[in-house]
Amino acid sequence: MKLIIEHKAILVRDLQWKVKDLVKFAERFGKIQNYPFSKGHTENPGVLKIINNPFEKRKFSSIWHSDSTYLENPPEFTFLYAIDIPEIGGDTVISNTEMAYESLSSKFQEFLKNLEGVYVSNLNKIKRSKYFKGENKFQIFKTCHPIILLNKDSKKYSIYANREHTSHIKDLNDNKSNAVLKLLQTVVSKHEFSYRINWKPGTLVVFDNRSTQHRALVDYDTEPRTLYRITIRLNN
Ligand SMILES: [Fe+2]
Repeated sequence: MKLIIEHKAILVRDLQWKVKDLVKFAERFGKIQNYPFSKGHTENPGVLKIINNPFEKRKFSSIWHSDSTYLENPPEFTFLYAIDIPEIGGDTVISNTEMAYESLSSKFQEFLKNLEGVYVSNLNKIKRSKYFKGENKFQIFKTCHPIILLNKDSKKYSIYANREHTSHIKDLNDNKSNAVLKLLQTVVSKHEFSYRINWKPGTLVVFDNRSTQHRALVDYDTEPRTLYRITIRLNN
């Protein structure tokens, strides 16, 4: 756990895990949180099978975000395990949002620290009903979180506002809110703060959602891409 908090993410190759192995590993860190839009895996409801089918224009998870920030208690850690991966393409880019925050001027950091954002599940009109068959597939989740988050474990601040879920900043007019969100997203997506995950079947990645953002690249057409995902709330 210390490694993940320090480095924000870890990657392990060439595992030959079954779903139960992934569940067992994730449970060592905390309580598995079910994805609200899906019933999940038949035997393990906390496991989400992410399948991006070929030829679909819009693919799941392709906009910068950290997972489920529209929930009042979003998951701290995400576990992704690769099953089927296209021969070429389908990488995930992950950004260190603590480094992104630290690159801002101290005056701007102070301004941002006082701001709260509104986080919603359907901001980019993503039709989760198309991907998943869950009881809540048409429900909209909405909550407030700071724009800049203090990770109580790393004790560092990070840019938490994200393009997929942050609709606006409270107490700023629309123009100012949009300008600040756009600027923050530009900083988060800078190459110098990011790492590109090149998936192979059997690759496991675990990341700290409080100090990272990620997006899946949509640069493949003819092959499916399948990952298992588990999100957890850390044990205190
Ligand atoms: Fe995600």
